[in-house]
Amino acid sequence: MEYPNHTFCRYLNLPKVPEDLIREVIDSYPTTKEMAEVSKFKKSFKTTPSGEEYPSYAWSDQNNKKINEWCQKNICEDMYFAFHMIQSDENGYFDIHRDYPVRQKLVYLIDPGGGTPITTFYDEDRQTVLQSISIETHRWHVMDVSAWHDVTGLEPGTVRFAIASRLFPGG
Ligand SMILES: [Fe+2]
Repeated sequence: MEYPNHTFCRYLNLPKVPEDLIREVIDSYPTTKEMAEVSKFKKSFKTTPSGEEYPSYAWSDQNNKKINEWCQKNICEDMYFAFHMIQSDENGYFDIHRDYPVRQKLVYLIDPGGGTPITTFYDEDRQTVLQSISIETHRWHVMDVSAWHDVTGLEPGTVRFAIASRLFPGG
Protein backbone atom coordinates (compact mmCIF):
# COMPACT_ATOMS: atom_id res chain seq x y z
CA MET A 1 0.00 0.00 0.00
CA GLU A 2 1.36 3.35 -1.00
CA TYR A 3 0.59 6.47 1.01
CA PRO A 4 1.15 9.59 -1.07
CA ASN A 5 2.17 12.79 0.71
CA HIS A 6 -0.64 14.60 -0.95
CA THR A 7 -3.49 13.41 -3.02
CA PHE A 8 -6.63 15.21 -4.08
CA CYS A 9 -8.83 12.15 -3.69
CA ARG A 10 -9.06 9.65 -0.84
CA TYR A 11 -11.36 6.64 -0.91
CA LEU A 12 -13.47 5.74 2.08
CA ASN A 13 -14.86 2.26 2.71
CA LEU A 14 -18.44 3.38 3.29
CA PRO A 15 -21.58 1.51 2.21
CA LYS A 16 -22.51 1.53 -1.47
CA VAL A 17 -25.74 3.30 -2.38
CA PRO A 18 -28.40 0.74 -3.42
CA GLU A 19 -28.65 0.41 -7.21
CA ASP A 20 -32.46 0.39 -7.23
CA LEU A 21 -32.53 3.68 -5.34
CA ILE A 22 -30.09 5.29 -7.81
CA ARG A 23 -32.04 3.93 -10.77
CA GLU A 24 -35.30 5.29 -9.37
CA VAL A 25 -33.82 8.77 -9.00
CA ILE A 26 -32.19 8.76 -12.45
CA ASP A 27 -35.42 7.59 -14.06
CA SER A 28 -37.24 10.53 -12.49
CA TYR A 29 -34.88 13.01 -14.15
CA PRO A 30 -35.81 15.03 -17.25
CA THR A 31 -35.45 13.78 -20.80
CA THR A 32 -32.38 14.57 -22.90
CA LYS A 33 -34.04 17.64 -24.41
CA GLU A 34 -34.83 19.07 -21.03
CA MET A 35 -31.32 18.15 -19.96
CA ALA A 36 -30.00 20.64 -22.52
CA GLU A 37 -31.63 23.35 -20.42
CA VAL A 38 -30.00 21.90 -17.34
CA SER A 39 -26.68 22.12 -19.17
CA LYS A 40 -27.19 25.85 -19.72
CA PHE A 41 -27.72 26.18 -15.99
CA LYS A 42 -24.55 24.21 -15.35
CA LYS A 43 -22.60 26.53 -17.58
CA SER A 44 -23.89 29.64 -15.86
CA PHE A 45 -20.78 30.29 -13.84
CA LYS A 46 -20.95 32.52 -10.80
CA THR A 47 -18.23 34.88 -9.70
CA THR A 48 -16.50 35.12 -6.34
CA PRO A 49 -15.73 38.49 -4.70
CA SER A 50 -12.17 38.25 -6.08
CA GLY A 51 -13.46 37.77 -9.61
CA GLU A 52 -12.93 34.03 -9.86
CA GLU A 53 -15.53 31.97 -11.65
CA TYR A 54 -17.10 28.82 -10.28
CA PRO A 55 -19.71 26.49 -11.74
CA SER A 56 -23.29 25.90 -10.73
CA TYR A 57 -23.89 22.20 -10.71
CA ALA A 58 -27.44 21.29 -11.55
CA TRP A 59 -29.33 19.44 -8.88
CA SER A 60 -32.78 19.17 -7.49
CA ASP A 61 -34.04 19.00 -3.91
CA GLN A 62 -37.22 17.33 -5.04
CA ASN A 63 -35.48 14.52 -6.93
CA ASN A 64 -32.73 13.86 -4.46
CA LYS A 65 -34.96 13.68 -1.35
CA LYS A 66 -34.73 9.87 -1.12
CA ILE A 67 -31.00 9.84 -1.79
CA ASN A 68 -30.44 12.46 0.90
CA GLU A 69 -32.53 10.45 3.37
CA TRP A 70 -30.60 7.25 2.64
CA CYS A 71 -27.22 9.00 2.90
CA GLN A 72 -28.09 10.78 6.15
CA LYS A 73 -29.13 7.44 7.64
CA ASN A 74 -26.14 5.44 6.34
CA ILE A 75 -23.27 7.90 5.79
CA CYS A 76 -23.56 11.06 7.88
CA GLU A 77 -26.68 12.35 9.61
CA ASP A 78 -25.87 16.05 9.63
CA MET A 79 -24.68 16.56 6.06
CA TYR A 80 -26.87 17.40 3.08
CA PHE A 81 -26.43 15.11 0.07
CA ALA A 82 -27.27 16.44 -3.38
CA PHE A 83 -27.80 14.40 -6.52
CA HIS A 84 -25.80 16.23 -9.20
CA MET A 85 -26.10 16.26 -12.95
CA ILE A 86 -22.90 17.15 -14.75
CA GLN A 87 -23.08 17.30 -18.54
CA SER A 88 -19.89 17.26 -20.58
CA ASP A 89 -19.52 19.48 -23.63
CA GLU A 90 -19.24 18.34 -27.27
CA ASN A 91 -15.60 17.41 -26.67
CA GLY A 92 -16.31 15.31 -23.61
CA TYR A 93 -14.82 17.98 -21.39
CA PHE A 94 -15.90 19.53 -18.11
CA ASP A 95 -14.33 22.95 -17.66
CA ILE A 96 -11.50 23.70 -15.27
CA HIS A 97 -12.81 25.22 -12.06
CA ARG A 98 -12.68 25.23 -8.28
CA ASP A 99 -15.76 24.45 -6.21
CA TYR A 100 -15.59 27.77 -4.41
CA PRO A 101 -16.32 28.32 -1.53
CA VAL A 102 -16.20 24.60 -0.69
CA ARG A 103 -12.79 23.06 0.03
CA GLN A 104 -13.62 19.37 0.48
CA LYS A 105 -16.49 17.31 -0.82
CA LEU A 106 -17.66 13.81 -0.08
CA VAL A 107 -18.52 12.35 -3.47
CA TYR A 108 -20.01 9.16 -4.92
CA LEU A 109 -19.74 8.91 -8.71
CA ILE A 110 -22.28 6.93 -10.65
CA ASP A 111 -21.37 5.26 -13.95
CA PRO A 112 -21.09 8.00 -16.57
CA GLY A 113 -22.36 5.73 -19.34
CA GLY A 114 -19.25 5.63 -21.49
CA GLY A 115 -15.88 7.23 -21.97
CA THR A 116 -12.86 6.99 -19.71
CA PRO A 117 -13.07 10.08 -17.52
CA ILE A 118 -9.84 11.47 -16.11
CA THR A 119 -9.92 14.09 -13.38
CA THR A 120 -6.88 16.33 -13.32
CA PHE A 121 -5.82 18.70 -10.56
CA TYR A 122 -3.70 21.76 -11.36
CA ASP A 123 -1.46 24.22 -9.57
CA GLU A 124 -2.46 27.88 -9.14
CA ASP A 125 -1.30 28.60 -12.70
CA ARG A 126 -4.10 26.27 -13.96
CA GLN A 127 -1.56 24.51 -16.22
CA THR A 128 0.91 22.59 -14.06
CA VAL A 129 -0.58 19.15 -13.46
CA LEU A 130 -0.41 18.06 -9.82
CA GLN A 131 -2.35 14.81 -10.14
CA SER A 132 -4.35 13.03 -12.83
CA ILE A 133 -6.64 10.20 -11.75
CA SER A 134 -9.42 7.96 -12.93
CA ILE A 135 -11.86 8.12 -10.04
CA GLU A 136 -13.64 4.87 -9.27
CA THR A 137 -17.39 4.86 -9.60
CA HIS A 138 -19.69 3.60 -6.83
CA ARG A 139 -17.08 4.36 -4.25
CA TRP A 140 -17.24 7.12 -1.66
CA HIS A 141 -14.28 9.45 -1.73
CA VAL A 142 -13.22 12.79 -0.30
CA MET A 143 -12.08 15.25 -2.94
CA ASP A 144 -10.00 18.36 -2.39
CA VAL A 145 -12.00 20.67 -4.61
CA SER A 146 -10.14 23.80 -3.53
CA ALA A 147 -7.57 23.06 -6.25
CA TRP A 148 -8.24 23.79 -9.91
CA HIS A 149 -9.59 20.68 -11.59
CA ASP A 150 -11.20 19.52 -14.81
CA VAL A 151 -12.49 16.28 -16.32
CA THR A 152 -11.57 14.96 -19.76
CA GLY A 153 -12.50 11.81 -21.63
CA LEU A 154 -16.22 11.94 -20.91
CA GLU A 155 -18.61 10.73 -23.58
CA PRO A 156 -19.55 13.99 -25.37
CA GLY A 157 -22.84 15.43 -24.18
CA THR A 158 -23.62 12.65 -21.75
CA VAL A 159 -24.76 13.37 -18.25
CA ARG A 160 -22.71 12.12 -15.37
CA PHE A 161 -24.59 11.65 -12.13
CA ALA A 162 -22.95 11.98 -8.76
CA ILE A 163 -23.95 12.26 -5.15
CA ALA A 164 -22.02 15.04 -3.45
CA SER A 165 -21.96 16.67 -0.08
CA ARG A 166 -20.00 19.60 1.32
CA LEU A 167 -17.92 18.49 4.27
CA PHE A 168 -17.47 22.01 5.60
CA PRO A 169 -19.67 24.44 3.68
CA GLY A 170 -18.18 27.82 3.15
CA GLY A 171 -14.68 26.97 4.25
FE1 LIG B 1 -15.64 20.38 -9.18
